[in-house]
Amino acid sequence: MCGIVGYIGSKCAAPILTEGLEKLEYRGYDSAGVAVLNSGAIEIRKFKGRLAVLDEDIKKKSIEGNIGIGHTRWATHGEPSDVNSHPHANEKSSIAVVHNGIIENYMEIKEELQAKGYKFVSETDTEVVCHLLDEYYDGNLVEAVQKVVGKLEGAYALGVMCRDNPEELIAVRMTSPLIVGIGEEENFIASDIPAILKHTKNVYIMDDGEMAIVKKDSISLMKIDGTPITKDVYEVNWDVEAAEKGGYDHFMIKEIHEQPKAIRDTLSPRLSNDNTIKLDDIKLTKEDLDNFNKVYIIACGTAYHAGLLGKTLIEKYVKIPVIVDIASEFRYSNPFIDEKTLMIMVSQSGETLDTFEALRLGKSKGARIMAVTNVVGSSIAREADDVLYTWAGPEIAVASTKAYTTQMASFAIIALDMAVKKGSISDEEYEVAINELKQLPDKAAEILEDIDFVKDLAEEIYESEHVFYIGRGIDFDVAREGSLKLKEVSYIHSEAMQGGELKHGTLALVEKNTPVIALAAQDRLYDKMLSNIKEVKARGAHVIALAKKGNKEIEKSADRVIYIPDVTDELSSALSVIPLQLLAYYVASLRGCDIDKPRNLAKSVTVE
Ligand code: M6R
Repeated sequence: MCGIVGYIGSKCAAPILTEGLEKLEYRGYDSAGVAVLNSGAIEIRKFKGRLAVLDEDIKKKSIEGNIGIGHTRWATHGEPSDVNSHPHANEKSSIAVVHNGIIENYMEIKEELQAKGYKFVSETDTEVVCHLLDEYYDGNLVEAVQKVVGKLEGAYALGVMCRDNPEELIAVRMTSPLIVGIGEEENFIASDIPAILKHTKNVYIMDDGEMAIVKKDSISLMKIDGTPITKDVYEVNWDVEAAEKGGYDHFMIKEIHEQPKAIRDTLSPRLSNDNTIKLDDIKLTKEDLDNFNKVYIIACGTAYHAGLLGKTLIEKYVKIPVIVDIASEFRYSNPFIDEKTLMIMVSQSGETLDTFEALRLGKSKGARIMAVTNVVGSSIAREADDVLYTWAGPEIAVASTKAYTTQMASFAIIALDMAVKKGSISDEEYEVAINELKQLPDKAAEILEDIDFVKDLAEEIYESEHVFYIGRGIDFDVAREGSLKLKEVSYIHSEAMQGGELKHGTLALVEKNTPVIALAAQDRLYDKMLSNIKEVKARGAHVIALAKKGNKEIEKSADRVIYIPDVTDELSSALSVIPLQLLAYYVASLRGCDIDKPRNLAKSVTVE
C-alpha cells in the first residue's frame, strides 16, 4: 500500500525522501513522487512506475530545499499515472499533500468544490484535500488542516506542507499508520519505521485522531481539536541491517533462512528451563477461560492460514470450539459474539484494515480481544486487551514467511498456556508438547541445511501452467499456504484441495504430468493420504510428496519425496511449510519474477 515520508531540517530533503521511499518499496506501489520547498516555491516531481524513474529525473536535474514530502502510491482511485501520483497540490501549488488510505466522502466534497470553481486534474480522492485546504487557509495551516479533517470521512493519514508556512510539516493520522521520527535539528514523518531508520531510532507512534506539527527543532502533538498531548518515545530495537538483504538476492530467501532464529526468538523468552510458560502481555486468568464458550480467530491471507493451526491446537488442548474466519468476510457476516467470546486477531503488520475493523466489531460486542502481531505499537496491538508479539524482526518481502512460522509457534504457546490455566491438559501431554516445541528452531534449521533438492524440484515444475497442492487436516492448511506462496510470487495458477475432496470435482483437472504436491506429514492421516496420492498418480500426475524422515514406503507411490525431520503431527505444518516456501521462491526465480514485490500486491493492506 501507499507509503509516506517527510523531512524538515538543514539537509537537502530530496535524497532523504527518495531513500526513505526506497525503504517503503516493499509495501507495494505503482508510482512515486516528492514535493520540496525550493526557493519559495513548491516543486513537485512524480512519475508512474518504479522509484528508479523518479531517481533518474532528480539525478538529471537536482532539487534543492530542506523541507519536503514524498509518497509511493498504490492505486485505488484512478489508474496508475503521472497525474494521479502524489504529492498533489492546490491550483496555485502553494499547498502540497501526500495521503494514504481512502477518503470515503470525496465525491460529495469534490462536487461542492467544483461548484465553487475548483478545477480537478486527477481522478484521486486525495485532490479534494488540497482544494479544501486552499479554501480554508488564511495564513494558519494548522487551523486549515483541522477544518479539512472535520469534513473528511474514511481511514487515512496525511502529510501536508505549505509554501507560506515554510517552517512546518503537518501530519494527521485517522486509522492509517503514521509515525514521527525525532532527530537532532531535523525531524521526520513516515508511514513505517524503515523509511527513517537510517536517521533515527526514536519515534512517536501516532494514534487515531492525532495531529503533529513537525518543525526542524520541535514536535508538537495534539488531538485534531488542538488539545495538546504527550507521548512516550518508542525506541526501535532493530537496526538498518535487519531491513537489508544481507548478501541474499531477495528479502524472501533471506527471511526464509531467518526462520530458525525467528522461531527461537519468539519462543525462548516465553519458555523457562522448568518448562513453564510466561506470556508478557497476556493477562487471561482461569476465570476468563472458564467464561469463554468459543474463540474466533480472524485474519487475512497467510495470517489466516496460521489461524487454522491455532484452531487445531486450541481445540485439542483447551477444548473450546474455535471458528477461523477471513476478516473481510467476518465483518459482513452475523457473528455470534458476546462477553463469552475470545477473539484472536492475527496480523504480521498489525495494520491490515479488515482485521482491524473486525477487531473493532468484536470489541463493540463485548468480546475479549487478543492480538498476535509482529509490529510493536501497531493499531491492532494497541486496541487489543492482550498481545503476543511474534519476534520475527522486520518482514520486508511481500510474501510472508517468517511471520507465518512465528505465528504458528505463537499459537502453540498460547494454546498450551491456556490449557494449563484451564486445567484441560494432562502433565504428560504438556511435557511432550513443550519438549517438541523447544526443538522446533533446530528442526527448522535442519531443513535449511540442504536446499539443493528443492532447487531441482523447481526445475521440474517451473514451466507448468497449474500446480495442485493436496493434504488432509493440518497438512491441508499448510497446502493452502504453499499454494498461496507459489501463486503470489511465481504467478503460476495453483489450487489447494483436501485429499478426500479431490474426487468430487478437481480430479478432472489432473492429467499426464500435472504437478501435484502431496503433503503426508501426519502419522494420523498418513494411510488416507497415501490413497489420495495413488489416485492422482493413476491419472498421470507428477507427484512431489512431503513426508517425515524415515518414511521409505512413500517413495514407491510418489515421483519425488521431500523429507522433514520427525515431529509431532501438531507441529509438523510449521516445518512442512519451509520446503514449500523454498519451492515457490525457486520457481519464481526461474521464471524471472519480481519476487519481493509481486505484481498488484502490497505488504500491508490498509484499505478495504
Ligand atoms: O499484515 P497481515 O499479516 O495482516 O497481512 C495479511 C495478509 O495480507 C498477508 O498475510 C498476505 O497474505 C501475505 N503477503 C501472503 O504472503
